[in-house]
Amino acid sequence: MIDTLTINTTLTSHSRLAEIDFDHLQFGKIFSDHMFMADYEGGEWKNFQILPYGPIPMSPAISALHYGQAIFEGMKAYRLHDGNISVFRADKNFERFNISAARMAMPTIPEEIFMQGIAALIQTDAAWIPTGENTSLYLRPVMFATDTSLGVRASDTYKFVVLATPAGPYYNKALKVKIETHFTRANQGGVGYAKTAGNYARSLHPFSEAQKEGFDQLIWTDAQTHQYVEESGAANLMFVIDGKIVTAATGDTILNGVTRRTIIELAEKNGIVVEERKVSIAEIIAGIQSGALTEAFAVGTAATVTQIGEIGYEQKLYTLNPVENRTISIKLASQLNEIRYGLVPDEFGWNWIL
Ligand SMILES: Cc1ncc(COP(=O)(O)O)c(C=O)c1O
Repeated sequence: MIDTLTINTTLTSHSRLAEIDFDHLQFGKIFSDHMFMADYEGGEWKNFQILPYGPIPMSPAISALHYGQAIFEGMKAYRLHDGNISVFRADKNFERFNISAARMAMPTIPEEIFMQGIAALIQTDAAWIPTGENTSLYLRPVMFATDTSLGVRASDTYKFVVLATPAGPYYNKALKVKIETHFTRANQGGVGYAKTAGNYARSLHPFSEAQKEGFDQLIWTDAQTHQYVEESGAANLMFVIDGKIVTAATGDTILNGVTRRTIIELAEKNGIVVEERKVSIAEIIAGIQSGALTEAFAVGTAATVTQIGEIGYEQKLYTLNPVENRTISIKLASQLNEIRYGLVPDEFGWNWIL
């Protein structure tokens, strides 16, 4: 039995909704009128509130800024075909948030706070859910350490905040990606499987170097040998080789993506074989050359299903099968969309209807 949370609500006196150009949404640039916030102090979560989105006063000594105890999640709320509001597989994001918290020596958060905080924010800012094609309200729960102390140890106090930002498609073209064989995103025994700020911080320099070379994204490889594909900057990767979907098995260096799991479950329902295993670069390159590799795509909440058009590896650029010939990923992406927007019955129970 989940307790009902008592949430203090302070509504904004000036909504910014009328100022937003919903036809030209840039990812994560504008935030809805309100946010949800809670504090962890004295070993418990308290001060549940919905308040106007805006700055929160904080000391420059808070330990999140110095030692990086910060974790987050990302999920999407949709306006369904029948007018209801749904959040896609939020239970999975809740589970992963607490997996990240445990790894970063942060307190876990009870389900009622995570879920009811999110529900309260969406209900308050329901008018911010865009209704255009491929749009959604992206939700960003974040937890960070707030002790004002420079001693290196886990903080005793934290803030949990949920932000909402209306979102259109993250990418609108097939990507040119570079297989990264020098820098690494994650290593064994590290924090790669946690959705923690530092994983993204360490990826930014290699990413901007790749952008200078004309690439849109990186494919990370394993830290020890750089011979095996791991994932992309903000999405997991899938390949279709000999008609089967092949994707890197998750472990401590790869984020266990909700979209990855969803596509695997959809593929299996369609009778498509999925192999979760080590995927070598040699296999990818040989597959492109022989024609056995017919599709490559990135899967993630923000990216949804994004096609990969070209792969750069060791100064060579490989052009993949044209997107219009990619039957498997196109079919699965469209089935996923139909469920997310309530165009077909949700037989998997993935939509959390508010
Ligand atoms: C590093 C990384 N890998 C994979 C994913 C995809 O995960 P999900 O499908 O849960 O959004 C994300 C995005 O959340 C990510 O940041």
